[in-house]
Amino acid sequence: MSNTHFILATCRSGYESDLAAEMVAKATELGVYGYVQTTKGTGSVHYHCTSENDLNKLSRQLRIDDVVFARQMFTHLVTIDPLPASQRVEAVLAALLPHADALPKPLGQVLVEHPDTDSGHEVAKFCRKFAVPLRQALRKAKLLSAKETSSQSRLHIFMPSFEQLFIGVSTAAQSHPQNNGIRRLKFPSAAPSRSTLKLEEAILELLTESQRQQLFREGARAVDLGACPGGWTYQLVSRGMHVEAVDNGAMAESLMATGQVSYFAADGFKYKPEYGRAQLLVCDMIERPDRVAALMQKWLQVGYTDAAIFNLKLPMKKRYETVAELLKQLTVALASQYSIVCKQLYHNRDEVTVAIMPKA
Ligand SMILES: C[S@@+](CC[C@H](N)C(=O)[O-])C[C@H]1O[C@@H](n2cnc3c(N)ncnc32)[C@H](O)[C@@H]1O
Repeated sequence: MSNTHFILATCRSGYESDLAAEMVAKATELGVYGYVQTTKGTGSVHYHCTSENDLNKLSRQLRIDDVVFARQMFTHLVTIDPLPASQRVEAVLAALLPHADALPKPLGQVLVEHPDTDSGHEVAKFCRKFAVPLRQALRKAKLLSAKETSSQSRLHIFMPSFEQLFIGVSTAAQSHPQNNGIRRLKFPSAAPSRSTLKLEEAILELLTESQRQQLFREGARAVDLGACPGGWTYQLVSRGMHVEAVDNGAMAESLMATGQVSYFAADGFKYKPEYGRAQLLVCDMIERPDRVAALMQKWLQVGYTDAAIFNLKLPMKKRYETVAELLKQLTVALASQYSIVCKQLYHNRDEVTVAIMPKA
């Protein structure tokens, strides 16, 4: 068993070096120093701090919402390696016992997780099953609250393979309340494209409940740049909005039939809102991310829209650096009046999603 503690963060497979660069940058911003360990294709990154104090500080101050490429994040307590082939619940409890004092009491949730990789998918079924007796045993040991709650600290059991298991804890702000940091959504059969799930996830993950209530009111208006065939427009229409859909392609007939969509065959970079200031601008155009970010900034600054949700496509190698530079520009230009959130969501591919909302 190893007791060298670190922050363990997971990401989309292939994005390890982006997450690693981001962890170093975010830790440095917080005045914490350390180094990262990662291997391409593992879907995870370990950030080692130079002192226990730094680890505590990072655990308290680095929030999952602030780390673009992290799906899940927790503070490592102990590793079981090799993991026995039987009596694994007992092995976890035995490994936890010497750390009982370090455990927040009571824990509100236990998540049994795996990386989003080929080897991770092999242990996925086991993780789901293992969670049941483990929860019972933790409750019996008075370590886990009787009723599951996402507002308290969590215990994470992270299994990269059947041979190894990492145990750690997180605060509610440090981690995502769902297993593997993934919000699973059901594809709405009436939506014209799978892209619809990207905007649905963004609305649920990046906006607060009060922002959603403020935005999605009956009769509110949105502009969708790069709208075809209409997956994003579908999300807005089903929340009661009227949408100006801008694209040279064809919109789904079913959306046009709602009477809530006006279609414009135009270049999204030249389009101006047809009916005055909109409540929301969304944009999923496959274009250079710097061009899209500048366009979003312009729409907000000239008052064409109150808020914006958009994707930045990332076909380049240094994806974190690109995102960091664009977020810096947007922050300098807009942060006095708007809150800016950016995440790589589960339904994103080589892209991230940004939500810019007016400050209350
Ligand atoms: C990824 S698709 C959008 C999918 C859409 N969000 C959905 O959910 O169905 C990108 C779209 O952007 C459009 N597009 C790319 N550049 C554009 C531009 N300069 N002006 C308008 N549309 C553009 C493309 O025609 C394409 O339909």
